[in-house]
Amino acid sequence: MGCRNKLRVGLTYNLKSDVLTLNEDDQAEFDDLDTVNDIKRALESAGCIVYPMEATGSIINTIQSERIDIVFNFAEGLKGRGREAQIPALLNMLSIPFTGSDETTLAVALDKALAKKVIAHENIKTANFQVFFSKNDRLKKGMKYPLIVKPNAEGSSKGIIDTSIANNNQELYSLVERIVVHYNQPALVEEYIDGREFTVGILGNGDNIEILPIMEINFNKENGKGFYSYRVKKHSIDLLSYTCPALLTPDEERMIKKFAKKVYSALQCNDVARIDLRLSKADNKPYFIEINPLPGLADGFSDLTLIIRAAGMKYDDLIIRILNEALKRYGMDTI
Ligand SMILES: Nc1ncnc2c1ncn2[C@@H]1O[C@H](COP(=O)(O)OP(=O)(O)OP(=O)(O)O)[C@@H](O)[C@H]1O
Ligand SMILES: [Mg+2]
Repeated sequence: MGCRNKLRVGLTYNLKSDVLTLNEDDQAEFDDLDTVNDIKRALESAGCIVYPMEATGSIINTIQSERIDIVFNFAEGLKGRGREAQIPALLNMLSIPFTGSDETTLAVALDKALAKKVIAHENIKTANFQVFFSKNDRLKKGMKYPLIVKPNAEGSSKGIIDTSIANNNQELYSLVERIVVHYNQPALVEEYIDGREFTVGILGNGDNIEILPIMEINFNKENGKGFYSYRVKKHSIDLLSYTCPALLTPDEERMIKKFAKKVYSALQCNDVARIDLRLSKADNKPYFIEINPLPGLADGFSDLTLIIRAAGMKYDDLIIRILNEALKRYGMDTI
């Protein structure tokens, strides 16, 4: 191991303090300096020269002034539903290689309704849904309560509160209003899939895709229905636990892995992603919830960093593996 010619790696990120807060969870998706430092340290330990770059408007000058071989992209972007695509689009424009999925995949995945349309086209099961642009929109025929109401283009359970489940029209329209007003974006209303919840990490490309051990999220059912709300995630110790590898029959395991692989290919992901799904109690089949092609990397907190432990990988191995997958994809020497 070690970079033969000292690979020059740009590390793009957005810190929590980059953005002014409007809502209490407004910065939920942004990263702590600790995580940026952890990634930097992992890359340096493999012999790379690392150039951390805050992904703000001035990044274009920084990137061009350093002779960067490849970027380890970790930036959530600044604004809009295409925000995760901003840095990859810029890097592609400048012909600079980067880790992870490209701008098209990142933009589609962040818009959950668009991603569900792509997924449904591939005959992958996902809950029936409807996008509400305002609380004056009316629920279409065939949508069955209970319904879960979430912002259409957020992550980190942002905007998902313990009461995000509607059992009747009155609850539905007030939840929709909350999302439209507070999050300034359409609300995604989905049929609630009752069943066990899993998240699946994937590494690699093409025929060399590795599906990591499946992780189950076990909810403490104190609120009736258990789901991954922002509060649950923040206070995870009391409210949930994880099992990885999940306890599944060999058939279930095969079915979920095949499902995850199909989702990864349908969205044309590169290098790494994490897929959230539920095994419906009704038919024991996996239902797509969402895909995270830019998964969180906070050591010991983000799901992917918990999953890799079960696969016998250390945090640094994960970071170097992601970089190597990208280097291979570009036909460059791995480290
Ligand atoms: N259709 C559904 N049926 C049942 N539960 C759901 C559904 N959609 C979302 N949930 C619950 O809400 C949680 C958060 O939803 P989702 O994964 O879409 O949000 P997110 O904020 O993008 O998550 P992440 O933190 O993984 O980025 C899920 O993990 C699941 O517990
Ligand atoms: Mg999720």
